[in-house]
Formats: sequence, structure tokens, C-alpha cells
Amino acid sequence: MQDKDAMVLDPGCGSGSFLVRAYHRLRELKGYPRETRGMLAYAYHQELLDQVYGIDINQFPAHLSVINLAIQNPRARIKTVNVLVEDFFNIKPGITTLTGFKSFTAEGAQSTVTLPPFFDAIVANPPYIRQELLGGSEKETIKELIEGEYPKKLFIGSAPREAKDAVVLNKQSDIYIYFYIHGLKLLKDEGRLGFISSNKWLEVAYGEPFQQFLQENTRILYIVEFDRAIFPDAEVNTAVTILEKEKNRPKRDSNLVKFIRVKKKLGMDTLIQLISEMKKSYEDDDIRINLAKQNQLAPGKWSIYLRAPSVYQKIVLHSKIKQLGEVADVFRGPTTGWNDYFILPIEKAKEWSIETKYLEPCVSSPKKIRGLAFSQENVSEYFLMVHEAKDTLKGTNILKYIDSGEKLEIEVTRGAQRGKRRLYELETVKNRKPFWYSLPQFAKPLILIPKLVDKQIQVIWNKAKAHASDLFYYVIPGKDEDALVILGFLNSSTGALLSELYGRSYGGGVLDLKVYEAKQIPVLDASKLSTFERSRIDRAFEQLVEVVELRCKAEDDLENVKSKERPSVGLFESEAKKKLNEALENESKAREQLDEAIYDILGLTSEERRQVEEGLRELQQIRRLRTKT
Ligand SMILES: C[S@@+](CC[C@H](N)C(=O)[O-])C[C@H]1O[C@@H](n2cnc3c(N)ncnc32)[C@H](O)[C@@H]1O
Repeated sequence: MQDKDAMVLDPGCGSGSFLVRAYHRLRELKGYPRETRGMLAYAYHQELLDQVYGIDINQFPAHLSVINLAIQNPRARIKTVNVLVEDFFNIKPGITTLTGFKSFTAEGAQSTVTLPPFFDAIVANPPYIRQELLGGSEKETIKELIEGEYPKKLFIGSAPREAKDAVVLNKQSDIYIYFYIHGLKLLKDEGRLGFISSNKWLEVAYGEPFQQFLQENTRILYIVEFDRAIFPDAEVNTAVTILEKEKNRPKRDSNLVKFIRVKKKLGMDTLIQLISEMKKSYEDDDIRINLAKQNQLAPGKWSIYLRAPSVYQKIVLHSKIKQLGEVADVFRGPTTGWNDYFILPIEKAKEWSIETKYLEPCVSSPKKIRGLAFSQENVSEYFLMVHEAKDTLKGTNILKYIDSGEKLEIEVTRGAQRGKRRLYELETVKNRKPFWYSLPQFAKPLILIPKLVDKQIQVIWNKAKAHASDLFYYVIPGKDEDALVILGFLNSSTGALLSELYGRSYGGGVLDLKVYEAKQIPVLDASKLSTFERSRIDRAFEQLVEVVELRCKAEDDLENVKSKERPSVGLFESEAKKKLNEALENESKAREQLDEAIYDILGLTSEERRQVEEGLRELQQIRRLRTKT
């Protein structure tokens, strides 16, 4: 805030800490001293109070705001403090309304507050209330108000067909989203709004239409996140967002959005100077500033700009890069409904002597795969794959197995269907076509991405073309021969960095990829590579697969030696350890080769290569730290 005459509002003012800050900011801009004695100081006090407005739905915090503002000069007599006890969604620009307190003017009338038609600055830490917890009437009030404020431009839930270009806000939106939107309505053109709010809108589905709304109504100046080390007690997952209301499209489009991550504590003046003056992306030990042109930002995971090293933009804008979903079909493996029945370990299949044509090789969990490739000899489980009616199966063993399934009772421990249930009554099973026992017949994938990642993402070369459970995503490239490029890329440091950025990790330190996130991961488009580039990746990846396999074998050998109690064990053990170390060394060399092949294609400088590796390490570290909280 630079204007000494600015009118300031906090629409969810609580005890008024932002209002008090605004009061003193205005005092400083006006050059008034802190001194609270004397007639002049009394006059200043009312003048400053006339520029700050607060609203809170609750009496008690609103009361605290009044007190906290009034005591900035306890001796001065004042006429009004502009704090209202009111629901922000009942507030219209310029209204005069009762304060909501039992308070009276000197003349005995009930006190009122008149809001200015528009504010120059709006600040708040709006409440976070998930939509499920919002009352029905509050939702109605908000919908009516907001759709009325942005006629034909903004809708909640759904829009009429003729409003093709309207923004349709997701019904799941948290209340703070509406604080932004209604707040902007009370703001002057070119006025500024600064909120500290949940950062979820930067990455979850309901954030996307809101991002589009911001792009179409404001210049998004700064989005700032502070590392936990700075505010250890602060609410996690908050971001500061500063917007400028802007009607002029070219001005909005040419704006550079600054995504800022503050890593170390910096003085407020230093921070403001750094971020306001920086004209290009920048990073040091204290801060990271990523700039992105406002009209080039596609609504989506904007959180990436806070978390990514600045080389990220060079990678995603590279002409040989496309989204995984553009070069391959990506979908989640089938949910069987009951793995114990639909996935048969080899022993069980033998025990029932199930006819092989009803069994398809599969893999139930990433835990069953060691290394980067899954081959025929690794197969130890089968999907039941029957699409024939029972009466055509007379005399077969598969029929016996289906009959046994029909008798099966299952204890459901989660969801609405708790209790004992027949297998074919389960939600996922009962609607299956043509029969309850018919798993979907998906195409077989050459590439499998695990849904959950613990250490570093390992994307599997499914040489066996086995099916997989819903713990995997199937990735089926347009052409089979492009698979190795995708595999090589995703298993490189660059691919791992991008997977970390596109996935999420809320708890437990595990990286969780949703299918739409997996589809967005940028990868090399094999069709754009020269024969040399392509074969360089293919070879480097194949080499890596081989040495990883040798490393796994060396690990097993060492375990074997350790488990055998023999007098000469010491000698065998040190030999096995030596072998393992060699294998590990070969693996890291192979990883380097693969990384280099990709860096060369992307034309990364040595500094940018460092950023990829450093960025990856950092994201993995942050993710693992989440286990402890
Ligand atoms: C996170 S607190 C703000 C804290 C404040 N910055 C302070 O310094 O104390 C959010 C405030 O919004 C208020 N609030 C919640 N829903 C509201 C609504 N619909 N209209 C106005 N205020 C609301 C709550 O009563 C609460 O005081």
C-alpha cells in the first residue's frame, strides 16, 4: 500500500491484527508520529480510523477489533470505529448498515457504518471452511450474490448453455474462494487485494476455474509460500496472494506472475524490495522467484511454479516435450473389487486346475517387482479373465471356481456397505458386464507407472505385457517402439523431478499420482527425436535395466551369505559386499549416462543440470519430512 489516503478493508477481521497494521502503515505514509498525546494526535487517530474497515460474522472477534483499533490512541475521544458484525456475503459496496453491536451515537441513535463505494486495498486471512461444512442457506446466499455480481460471466456449479465463455466455479470450492471473488467486487480498479489463505487452489480441481477467473479479472502479482522453517507454528499449506484488479486485457496478459518461495527469514523491507524489483527468475539460498507470463499459464497445478527450480520452464516449453497423455493412453489398472478372489497366485491357479485360457498374467502390486523390468519369468499371479456365460462352461474347472465365488461371503469393513456381503453384491462387482466375474479387457501395457511412490519413481518396462492392478497406471504409447523413450525419460532424474512436481504428497511421505496428474507429466516426444537421440536413450535405458538387475542379484547374494551360518562366513560376506558395491557403482554410472542423454537433447547447461538434480533431491527430502509431521 503506497497511497496515504487509501481506504482499507479486512472482510474477516478477527481480532483486527491486519487492521492495526494498516492503521500504522497509513500513519507512516502520512508522516504522523507514533506520539499519542495532544489535540493533533487525537485528530490523526479519527482520521486514520476513518480509513480502515473491518467485518466479522462473530461478535467477539469483532469486538476485539474495535478495542485493538481504539487503543492505538487510548486517550483520544473517537466517534466511530468502522467494524461491523455481519456476514461478508451480506455486504454490498457503499451500504450503510448497523454495526451489529448494541452501541449508540452521542445523539442516542443506533450506530451505523457507511462503507465507501470501493476500497483501495483489501486484506484478509479468510476462513477455510470446506464446502461440505457450509450450511445450505449460506451456500444459497453466496451463489445468488456472486452470480449477481458477475452476470453471465461467473456461475457456481453449472452455467446455462448460452454462457459459453463464462467461468464455472466448482461446487467443491472452499469458502475462501468466495472471499476472493466477492472481495474483488468491493475493490477499485487497480486496487490491490492481499490474502493469506489455503494454498489448495494452486493444485486441486476446484482451483482451476478460480485461476481462470483471476486471469480474467486481475493482474496476479505475487503468490508467496514460506518454508516451514520460517513460521514453524503457522498453519501448514498457506500462501500469500497479492492481486491487482485490472479490466484491461493487454495489461493482464502481459503481466508476469511472480511465484515466490521464501526459504529463510528475511526482513520485510528486504523481501519486498527483492520481489518487487526482480525482473527474471532467480534463486539463491534464501529465496526462489519463478516468473511466468500470465496468459501463458494454463489453469492447473500452479503449485509447480513454487516448487520447481527455474529450469522447469525451459524443460516444459521445449519443442520436443509433450504431456504424457498426448503421446500415450494413460489409465488406471482395473479395480477387481476383491483381489483375493480375482487375482490368483500361481499355486492357487494350479490347485483349482483352472484352464489357462481363463488366466492372464498380472502383477498385483509394485512390491512384487524388483528392478525396472517385469518379464515372463517374473510372473507369479493371474487375473481371472472370463467373459463367457456359466451355461457354456459346463464341466470346466473355471465354472467350479465361479460357483465357489458365488458362495463367498465377505466382511466389508469400510464405506456405506459395511457388514457381511456376497462377493457379487459388492459395489464394483455387481455392475460388471457381461457377468459379475468378468474383469474389464484392457489393452496390455508396455509401461506401468506405480500409483504410489516411496523412494524414487520407478517406471516399469512391462516386457511380459502383463496386466496390473489399480495400484498401477497403464501407459500405452501410440507406437510400441516409442516405449523405451518414455521409459528412459521417466526413469531419469529429469523424469523423476517432473513426477515429484506433478504428484502430491499429503501424508506419510508417499508421492501419490492421480491419473490426471500422470497424464500431465511432461515427457520427450519420441516422434520429434533424431535416430541418434532415440537410440541413445534406448541404449542407456536398456543398460540401466541390466545393471539394476545385477544390483538386485548382488543384494540377494549378500542376504544369502548373511543368513548362512558358516565358519568362513566373513570371507564370503566381504566378497559379496564388494560385488554389491561394484554393482551400485555401475548403476550410478548407468543413471548418469541416461541423465546426460536427456540433458543433451534438452540442451541444458551445467548449471541447469545441477538445478534438476538439486531440485529432485530437495523435493524428495521435503516429501519424506512429511512422514514425521
Ligand atoms: C482466520 S480468522 C482471521 C484472523 C484475523 N486476521 C486476526 O488477525 O485475528 C477468520 C475470521 O473470519 C471470520 N468469518 C468467518 N466467516 C465469515 C463471514 N462469512 N463473514 C465475515 N467474517 C467471517 C471468523 O469469525 C474469523 O474471525
